[in-house]
Amino acid sequence: MNYQKILEEIKEQIQTELPKGEVASYIPALKNVQANDFAMSIKLLDGTSYNIGCFDKKFSIQSISKVFTFSMALKHYGKELYQRVWYEPSGNPFNSLVQLEYEKGIPRNPFINAGAIVTTDSLLSYYKDKNLTFNEINQFINNLSKKEISFDEEIFKSELESGYRNQALASLMKSFNNIDNPIEETLETYFKHCSLMMSCEELASAMLFLANHGVDPLTNEEFITAPKAKRVNALMLTCGHYDASGDFAFHVGLPGKSGVGGGIVAIVPKKMAICVYSPRLNEKGNSHSGTKALELFTTLTDLSIF
Ligand code: DON
Repeated sequence: MNYQKILEEIKEQIQTELPKGEVASYIPALKNVQANDFAMSIKLLDGTSYNIGCFDKKFSIQSISKVFTFSMALKHYGKELYQRVWYEPSGNPFNSLVQLEYEKGIPRNPFINAGAIVTTDSLLSYYKDKNLTFNEINQFINNLSKKEISFDEEIFKSELESGYRNQALASLMKSFNNIDNPIEETLETYFKHCSLMMSCEELASAMLFLANHGVDPLTNEEFITAPKAKRVNALMLTCGHYDASGDFAFHVGLPGKSGVGGGIVAIVPKKMAICVYSPRLNEKGNSHSGTKALELFTTLTDLSIF
């Protein structure tokens, strides 16, 4: 298949979509982007890459980081993790509070904010120190992407100052004894990993292990076991786009994870990892053109899992 030609065709067809949607503004520093940017990268299991648009431009990975932190938590904990965070779709927005109250502080899944705050808290308990925990998260992603990545101080501070809903979620869960560490430390670590900056090309490389049963196909290093990689993919499919997860499965048909920075990663099992970037979001907080581009991709290649 000529993937470069397919990317070119997607870019051409997506042009009329690029002005649609709005850049995230509830974290003020996220507004400082080129709203009509578009990029897409594909990384095959044999290491071949195909790229289009501003594929080497770094953007705020936001909720895509939850894939890395959940993978790390799965590595360190067994089934006991699911006593603190479930694996069912929430059917609610990513920052919703309502379900958490009547479900006694146990978040529905690790990809909504509450669930990711719990997995970050579990990593803090494991490593016992907030700086070490963040270093380990960085190291995990560096090892996956074979690049040195860093976080954006301005975006981190902006979210620290404006993250009222996340503070509410963490406080509510603490009241149900589902946060073990001081709320400030858990949130600081969570906001820092959301503020990590990566390009489409780097993210496609970093996600390749999920297309290959948890093993880096280029070095044979096992990052998580095959059963655990299966769980991460399953949750990306059912929960990776919050209350638009059904819509994403319906139109795209791949395990995927979005972030309010405008990135989406998607996995074609046993074949490739894909990343798309376009910062204007739809009403559910997922990249508008990114979703359309991935839909075009599975239509043109017939590579949906269904
Ligand atoms: O906690 C937040 O609200 C952000 N740091 C991450 C949210 C996010 O990326 C949702 N994605 N579509």
